[in-house]
Amino acid sequence: MQKPESIVVLTGAGISAESGIETFRSEDGLWANHPVEEVATPEGFARNPQLVYQFYNQRREQLLSKEINPNAAHSALAKFEHDFDGSFLLVTQNIDNLHERAGSQNVLHMHGELLKMRCLNSRMVFDIRESFDFDSHCQCCRSPGNLRPHVVWFGEMPFHMNQINIALEACDVFVAIGTSGNVYPASGFYQIAKLRKAHTVEFNLEQTGSTFDTHIYGKATETVPQYFKSLLD
Ligand code: OAD
Repeated sequence: MQKPESIVVLTGAGISAESGIETFRSEDGLWANHPVEEVATPEGFARNPQLVYQFYNQRREQLLSKEINPNAAHSALAKFEHDFDGSFLLVTQNIDNLHERAGSQNVLHMHGELLKMRCLNSRMVFDIRESFDFDSHCQCCRSPGNLRPHVVWFGEMPFHMNQINIALEACDVFVAIGTSGNVYPASGFYQIAKLRKAHTVEFNLEQTGSTFDTHIYGKATETVPQYFKSLLD
């Protein structure tokens, strides 16, 4: 393969699994214990906001605990971005901040961020590290009941889609790491890249059903550092 000039990487829950964050669709994953329609839809939030606040408050607390840290796969992507002299975009479906903590710079969180909240009234976005709920006051309108997690729920439009599409159409390598390919539009990114004749590579523990040019099976912490090092050689 020729030395790539433009790379887009898509990450999913699998890259953070070895850091101790549950994936969504494994047997004991998040969606097995928390029904999606209750905690990750606008309708669920309208029906029972307290349950939704609680779900994201627990996840935020977990993310901020000492036990959760970036792993070798996060670090390999950050190092590659630093050393690569072409164009590099990291798109993540994850709402954790492990890519940033590993040192990645150019990261787009297409499904939002756990450490941010949004005012439903002004649409302003604020950083948040503590718990918040229906009684919390937003910093803009100062009214209770206005705040929601700054995450994308089912039925909502993911963030940064224009920027992502432009990068996908210009890349010569597209890499997906630790995603089951169940959620549109991220599940279709490799096809957009393929149309542009990009080389497409998937990293996963197991087959996902998506037809990438290259499939690399194994733990992300072992496979990802090796691959990105080889791209620089
Ligand atoms: P999933 O839970 O659907 O898939 C995680 C994938 O990671 C699976 O295919 C696993 O086989 C793989 N995996 C697990 N551990 C791994 C490891 N150590 N190394 C490599 N691969 C590993 O998570 P996502 O595909 O990220 O969206 O889910 C996509 C979206 O669905 C999420 O962003 C979330 C969810 O509903 C919203 O909430 C909007």
